[in-house]
Amino acid sequence: MAQQDSSTVKRGGFSSGFGVLAATLGSAVGLGNIWKFPYLTGANGGAGFLLVYLLATLVIGLPVMIAEITIGRHAKANPITALKKLSPKGQPWWLLGAAGMFASFLILSFYSEVVAWVFAYIFKALGGSILTSDRNITEAAFNSLIGDPLQSLLWQWVVLALIGGILLMGVTKGIEGLAKKLMPLLFLLLLLLCAVSLSLDKAREGLAFLFHPDFSKITASVILTAMGLAFFKLSLGMGTMMTYGSYFRDDQNIPATTVRVMAADLCVSMLAGIAIFPAVFTFGFAPAAGPALVFITIPAVFSQIPMGQVLMVGFFVLAAVAATGAMLSLMEVPVVILHERFSMSRPKATLITIGALMLIGSSCALTNNVLANFKLFGLNMFDLFDFVSSNIIMPAGGILLAVFVGWIWGAEKFRAALSNNGTLANARTARVVFFLLRYVSPVLILLVMLKGLKLF
Ligand code: PHE
Repeated sequence: MAQQDSSTVKRGGFSSGFGVLAATLGSAVGLGNIWKFPYLTGANGGAGFLLVYLLATLVIGLPVMIAEITIGRHAKANPITALKKLSPKGQPWWLLGAAGMFASFLILSFYSEVVAWVFAYIFKALGGSILTSDRNITEAAFNSLIGDPLQSLLWQWVVLALIGGILLMGVTKGIEGLAKKLMPLLFLLLLLLCAVSLSLDKAREGLAFLFHPDFSKITASVILTAMGLAFFKLSLGMGTMMTYGSYFRDDQNIPATTVRVMAADLCVSMLAGIAIFPAVFTFGFAPAAGPALVFITIPAVFSQIPMGQVLMVGFFVLAAVAATGAMLSLMEVPVVILHERFSMSRPKATLITIGALMLIGSSCALTNNVLANFKLFGLNMFDLFDFVSSNIIMPAGGILLAVFVGWIWGAEKFRAALSNNGTLANARTARVVFFLLRYVSPVLILLVMLKGLKLF
């Protein structure tokens, strides 16, 4: 057989409990918090969206995350092999792993473009020209960047090459090392930004927008978007958490780790929201500005403080680092699948993945310029890739994973795997999670998807 069983391939792994937490957090925290969360919250009416997002994270995200990591750790293999190993003969659950690989390409295509903007902004910040609260200037700066095909494409390729380089260094060193060192700094800088933003004139309005729900704004498609964000934020439904789970040690308490990751991730998003919305109202930006929101608002906040320029450079550098952890985890899915299932060396698998991404991803780099008028299903390429991955593949992956654990793998095996054969005392948690996976998550996700996609 040309395909290798994972047990014959030497696998890397996370070396310590803190390393596991840092790497998993490194996957969850990224541009999802700093860029996507604020812009989706702004575009979908604020606090109501936030509320639905919180609910989706707790009721759907957490159990699916626990399921995914447990499957990965138990099977100690890439998502395709893992699902093959655990499913009854002849049942094609492994297709879920394949769909995950596809989703990872879609996400990386637009994600790498946003990271490209972040990189470009490091240099813009260094130059100092965007350090202003004048929205005409910050908006024009952003539009000129995304409107330029050459800059958009080149930065994206630089980003992809860089991530490929880090992955070539191997799982443990590359991912753990980076995640461990820089996350706390990002947190501190966000705290500072919040303090500044809260001192602005219209801080109150910004906070009300973020925390005062207007229930009339919660429509089916808003709920679907909020649920999609919950999946996107926690890197669920597409194989990333399963892959990371396969690097977990057996004595790691999965529910505890998961809850910590979720809580820390929520904190970062909330800080980003609190840093951004007061400024949006004070300086007259539009909360629904879309993907541009962070890039036009953040410079305005920095323009209000001494050493704003240096700190803004720091902010974009740290945003790039946070995004790197997420991108590494995204890329790990195709790389480990190519490596373990197609007997490719890791370097070769990495190079093929990067090459493919440079091709596919370019459609997102060109979305706001050369391909500005090219639409499919009414969406440009950037939005289409985002929509299909976040609002379709990831939630659908979540349903199928929940069904797989709840109805195929079964309570006993799930509990044994989660508790590492009874050595970790989490029997009650296992019972609750299993119940959610078997009865609640699949139905909820399905209903939201069908309604949100207007299928009923
Ligand atoms: N969770 C990451 C973020 O919020 C994005 C991501 C999605 C990473 C899916 C891995 C898998 O930025």
